[in-house]
Amino acid sequence: MRYSRIVGTGGYLPEKILTNHDLERMVDTSDEWIRSRTGITQRHIAADNEMASDLALNASRKAMEAAGIKPGEIDLIIVATTTPDMVFPSTACILQDKLGARDCPAFDVQAVCSGFIYALATADMFIRAGRCRNALVVGTEIYSRILDWSDRSTCVLFGDGAGAVVLTQSDRPGILSSHLHADGSHNKILAVPGSIRSGRVQGKPFLIMEGNTVFKFAIKVLEEVAHEALTENNLEASDIDWLIPHQANIRIIQSTAKKLGIPMEKVVVTMDKHGNTSAASIPLALDIAIRDGRVKPDQHVLLEGVGGGFTWGAVLLRW
Ligand code: UT7
Repeated sequence: MRYSRIVGTGGYLPEKILTNHDLERMVDTSDEWIRSRTGITQRHIAADNEMASDLALNASRKAMEAAGIKPGEIDLIIVATTTPDMVFPSTACILQDKLGARDCPAFDVQAVCSGFIYALATADMFIRAGRCRNALVVGTEIYSRILDWSDRSTCVLFGDGAGAVVLTQSDRPGILSSHLHADGSHNKILAVPGSIRSGRVQGKPFLIMEGNTVFKFAIKVLEEVAHEALTENNLEASDIDWLIPHQANIRIIQSTAKKLGIPMEKVVVTMDKHGNTSAASIPLALDIAIRDGRVKPDQHVLLEGVGGGFTWGAVLLRW
């Protein structure tokens, strides 16, 4: 059988840090409110000259170094992003150029905070189908540019960053299964409803969110999709060594873990350091847990995310 395995991870957070205390001086909020309602203490903000492809480049180089893979060996690039460098070409094509990678398919995936799960599942299918050997899968976001910095209900939640993995063909898994979902009837609940028309921005080019609706939906589907992955692989929740969820809100994560019966000691939580980085949050958290040695060979790791669309999904893998 042909499988795919993650053989290298990398993460990148821009240098500038914006703390909750900094935000207290910008909007009517408090460090106490942000920490207790979300678990976030700080977020990183990209420099003016940094684009999503630059963040992706830094994370990708680290992942490729960890994997021992040169740019010329990459034969598929998938970038998950909601904040691309420009309308087109894709951030994946720009990243390919910056990396000096050779001719290979390169495209973006747009599934908001589930984007990395969608991208990883897609790369896994390319590899299983025998269409590529080494895929670079990246989540990269600069949310600081699509936030209304006068709206306290959203601007305190998000941050900038990138995470990347190298996925390689292998005769042992690897990725055990992936599970993708979308329900577009919720497309107005979490959105950046602006668009470009005749050289002008139409509509609001800032993130809007019915936080409470997203919160309840997230708790519901993160439990459901975890069970879906466990059932497909004849595993119990107790077989999961590490749960690595999308890093949006500590209360969503705690509630999901509790419903699944997974103790918080087995859950990777990083959002305190970088806020919600959308498509970058899962690969960033995975990279941290790999590099600090938490995740050991043969352990079961469940990645799962939910975001605008709504989209949601999970990838279950054996490390
Ligand atoms: O990544 C995609 C997925 N996104 C998510 O998963 C986000 C999901 N949603 C959430 O994480 C939470 O709903 C929020 C963190 C966005 C909000 O938490 P909440 O506990 O649902 O708060 P709320 O929206 O019900 O607001 C409670 C109160 C309100 O005041 P009143 O009406 O009770 O007087 C808000 O105006 O908190 C107020 N509030 C704030 N207060 C201080 C809202 N934002 C702030 C703020 N600082 N930044």
